[in-house]
Amino acid sequence: MKNKLILIGFMGSGKTTVSEYLARHYQCEVLDTDKWIEQKESLKVSEIFTAHGEEYFRNLETKCLEFLTDEEKDIIIATGGGLPLREENRLLLRSIGQIIYLEASADEIFTRLKDDKSRPLLNTSNQQEKINELIKIRRPIYGSIANLTIETDGKTCEEISKEIISAQIGRFYAKHPR
Ligand code: S3P
Repeated sequence: MKNKLILIGFMGSGKTTVSEYLARHYQCEVLDTDKWIEQKESLKVSEIFTAHGEEYFRNLETKCLEFLTDEEKDIIIATGGGLPLREENRLLLRSIGQIIYLEASADEIFTRLKDDKSRPLLNTSNQQEKINELIKIRRPIYGSIANLTIETDGKTCEEISKEIISAQIGRFYAKHPR
């Protein structure tokens, strides 16, 4: 059922806060794939990476999408930044809804995340370099599946959300026309 609104983008691009704003606006549920996984495993994402490794975490992301494929409710979905990297996941995302890419520059991401310790992939001595490296690989992948791209640098959560709402995207909007 292609009835979900899905937010994709790099770590720190605002997917979680924007998803909460949209869920309040459209009065529907929100699902954050990281939180879904944390609940299932009773562990934080960083603990899952440490205990089981990244591949194990990526398999859980795919499981979460399979769960959403069978879910009939209209849901706003905030995805983990690495979730669209698997082709299998991109196909699943496309089959369940409209995809909105929250784009942010590497400098903006670095400013937002430099004091954050919750992202295992960024726990390195040169965080800025790591962000640049990952963004370069991921940007074309995010862009390749997005139905809508929103530039987020310097914008508030409310401004970004209002841009999404005014784009009146796809079937989701047709069912929630306000
Ligand atoms: C990851 C992003 C994180 C989380 C995990 C891996 C990534 O989610 O899924 O740390 O590979 O970009 P956020 O994008 O919500 O930070």
